[in-house]
Amino acid sequence: MKSFNGRIAALTGGGTGMGRELVRQLVAEGCSVAMCDVSGANMAETKRLCEVDGVPQGVRITAHIADVSDEAQVLGFRDAAVRAHETDRLHLLFNNAGIGGGSSIVTSSREEWERTFNVNWYGVYYNTRAYLPLLLKADEAHIVNTSSINGFWACLMPGVSQSAYSAAKFAVKGFTESMITDLRNTAPHIKASIVMPGHIGTDIAINTRRVLTGSDSDEMSPAEIATARNMLASMAPAMANASDSDVQHAMLEFGKRFKETAPTSAAQAAKIILDGVKADRWRILVGDDAEAIDARVRSDPEAAYNLDFLQGFGSYIAPDSGQS
Ligand SMILES: NC(=O)c1ccc[n+]([C@@H]2O[C@H](COP(=O)([O-])OP(=O)(O)OC[C@H]3O[C@@H](n4cnc5c(N)ncnc54)[C@H](O)[C@@H]3O)[C@@H](O)[C@H]2O)c1
Repeated sequence: MKSFNGRIAALTGGGTGMGRELVRQLVAEGCSVAMCDVSGANMAETKRLCEVDGVPQGVRITAHIADVSDEAQVLGFRDAAVRAHETDRLHLLFNNAGIGGGSSIVTSSREEWERTFNVNWYGVYYNTRAYLPLLLKADEAHIVNTSSINGFWACLMPGVSQSAYSAAKFAVKGFTESMITDLRNTAPHIKASIVMPGHIGTDIAINTRRVLTGSDSDEMSPAEIATARNMLASMAPAMANASDSDVQHAMLEFGKRFKETAPTSAAQAAKIILDGVKADRWRILVGDDAEAIDARVRSDPEAAYNLDFLQGFGSYIAPDSGQS
């Protein structure tokens, strides 16, 4: 797809981060967007920013509350988008919504592990199924699924596990890659791309906690503190003995620093993603860190989980930092 002008897109997780910047850039290029998120306030801010940027004539932006891990809500999002955009076809589907969490099969709660997996995997799967009939009716269409470098390298950083998130992101990558051949045989006007960002400056750490706990408060529960202490101790062993308030403070700082120290901004990431779609690339790495880790894993896969794997890598800071 060489131009987004006059097209209609559905996008999950449009409230902040890369989703918000994708909405802004799509709208600026003349594409109507139906977005969903769990946060109505954040989607309203995305829409307001588009209006400040200037919405081209005829372009519609609609916001729909939906939790992508719940199929009934995803179907509700799809039906509301069809009504709001008065369309029976869709050109672009961005499965972008995601959260961190579920770092360990041993110490994370089963509830957190499965919530993380379900948002990151079923969010992609349910939306693809829901929108497929509309994509099939379009003259040309593109499914853009956001995985991660954790879709080919299953740890947050050497020595720090990332269990549920990596399992889901590997699944998203496998599903998307399998669609390339599947769609070529069955619906050749639909393309599929897998997006694998490195460390991008977003509020994913803060949003993850909101989605996992349902709480807007900075006050962490004893269970959250215990999980966070485990995660921090795997990065810095002294944190195993840190007080509850130190753990809480460290997590807040971690969330802030994650956004501030990223080598790639959400706006830069959105541009790389959209340029990749226009260039018809099925494999879209986002950021120099993602490119470099991909090259390193490919050149020596057996060493990928060694503690010195990133030695000499420079200023790598872990992507996808979830709450635990
Ligand atoms: N930031 C990074 O370093 C990074 C790296 C690799 C991959 N990713 C992936 O990129 C995607 C976008 O993340 P981001 O960094 O922009 O984070 P973000 O938190 O800024 O944006 C994600 C959006 O998804 C929404 N969301 C979360 N759970 C949802 C649910 N169940 N239903 C509907 N909406 C939900 C959030 O409210 C938020 O608005 C995610 O899939 C993430 O896993 C991020």
